[in-house]
Amino acid sequence: MTAVLPVTLLPIGVRGMKVLNRQKFLRKVVVPILKVCDEKVSEVTPICKNYFLKLENFKPIQPLKQDSENSYKIIHLNPERISHWTDIDNSDREVLQKCGITEKDLDSKEIEIMYENFKYDSIFKAVLPENEETVSGFSQIGHIIHLNLREHLLDYKKLIGEVLIDKIKTCSTVVNKNNIIDNTYRNFSMEIIAGEENYIVTVKENNCNFRFDFSKVYWNPRLCKEHERILEYLKPGDILFDVFCGVGPFSIPAAKRKCKVFANDLNPDSFTWLNFNAKQNKVNMKNFKSYNLDGKDFICKMFKDFLVNLCNGTEEIQNESKIHITMNLPAMAVEFLKHFNGLLEDKVFMEKFNYEIIVYVYCFVIGDDPYKDAEKLVKESIGCDINILNTFNVRNVSPKKEMMRVTFKLTKNIIFGLKQESECEPPSKKICVEKELKE
Ligand SMILES: C[S@@+](CC[C@H](N)C(=O)[O-])C[C@H]1O[C@@H](n2cnc3c(N)ncnc32)[C@H](O)[C@@H]1O
Ligand SMILES: *[C@@H]1O[C@H](CO)[C@@H](O)[C@H](O)[C@H]1NC(C)=O
Ligand SMILES: *[C@@H]1O[C@H](CO)[C@@H](O)[C@H](O)[C@H]1NC(C)=O
Ligand SMILES: *[C@@H]1O[C@H](CO)[C@@H](O)[C@H](O)[C@H]1NC(C)=O
Repeated sequence: MTAVLPVTLLPIGVRGMKVLNRQKFLRKVVVPILKVCDEKVSEVTPICKNYFLKLENFKPIQPLKQDSENSYKIIHLNPERISHWTDIDNSDREVLQKCGITEKDLDSKEIEIMYENFKYDSIFKAVLPENEETVSGFSQIGHIIHLNLREHLLDYKKLIGEVLIDKIKTCSTVVNKNNIIDNTYRNFSMEIIAGEENYIVTVKENNCNFRFDFSKVYWNPRLCKEHERILEYLKPGDILFDVFCGVGPFSIPAAKRKCKVFANDLNPDSFTWLNFNAKQNKVNMKNFKSYNLDGKDFICKMFKDFLVNLCNGTEEIQNESKIHITMNLPAMAVEFLKHFNGLLEDKVFMEKFNYEIIVYVYCFVIGDDPYKDAEKLVKESIGCDINILNTFNVRNVSPKKEMMRVTFKLTKNIIFGLKQESECEPPSKKICVEKELKE
């Protein structure tokens, strides 16, 4: 064999390209090939797999066009790994030799590779500025990919968007997130950099379908697992009060699991899509109520009425059923906890009150001990001692900033404002509550 010079398989001559020119990616490259007769192909394939020339839309094993009585295949190998027979591992060479394949069957061939053969990361590596951070860690929500491009990549945004649409079959819109987050509704402004201007997405999570306008409501695919964890605590017949429900990633699957659900969100668009999703997932409407209220009113009216109704017998729940309260608005949720403290004044209900209520409240903390800080924050916010069941680190949001979940029991003492002197802590200044969060 004429030695194949080691080559890179990246596109060349495209560095700095700002307007996508797919023809420019065409290049010729000399690659090693193995000539193998048809009968032996299946035997040697497992060995050759380790050395295959791996490109998009390219078959490493191809028929050899020749008119002899024997027919052959050629196996294309990776020039980044193989330039001599001895680059093939000893043991692999032995197997090949047993099949009658020797050094003389290793040859080289010039092939053409083009845009279609490169993955998006190879393209970005070849086009974008060298030695600088490239496009990384984007997320896909339905047909939308959203990016958070650094300054030095903004000139390339159109190319980046087009490449992603070409290469990711399920993507037809690419947006770049501007750093403007709507602090109330938790949605952020975004700019279309490629594809159709269509923000209505459909995603599947925890066996439910969610449809919503991604430009108007909050959705984070990274919370899927956390939603699932909470859903696992819910049993049929349980009650869920979802104070900041968004388009329903806790509420809709909970209702499907035969919980009685009270779902609330202040954003009218979230409320609209929540109701849409309840219908779309065929939720039993007898067990699903939705509200478009401020969290405070939801707690002080809807949740309170529910407790009163339980106490006076208007509402009933099974003995073993629990009441769960999810509060996923990490930047602010703790500020709503004080409304639980002394929610029921009427002491006549006290005797009857015997319910297990579990609160799952989320917060952001910055610091070296996120567990301790999260617990302290929650205790201070509610204004009395609490029985914490679990403190959990949900995800790292940015260096040193954690999204935490504190799970605690909302006891009779808290609901009736009966804290013992010793349990009382004067509400002091809040630690590490961040309102301007960038996720
Ligand atoms: C972080 S999102 C969580 C949504 C959903 N629970 C989830 O896990 O994806 C917080 C939600 O709280 C809503 N929200 C913000 N302020 C609120 C308030 N004062 N009362 C009720 N909902 C509020 C926002 O519109 C947003 O949908
Ligand atoms: C957030 O969504 C609301 C409607 O729900 C919209 O009016 C607002 O412009 C959006 N905010 C941003 C920053 O895009
Ligand atoms: C229970 O309380 C609710 C209001 O919270 C009231 O509407 C209802 O009539 C009461 N029922 C009884 C039986 O007292
Ligand atoms: C529910 O609790 C009541 C009173 O404590 C008890 O009499 C009844 O047997 C319980 N029912 C079930 C199904 O456990």
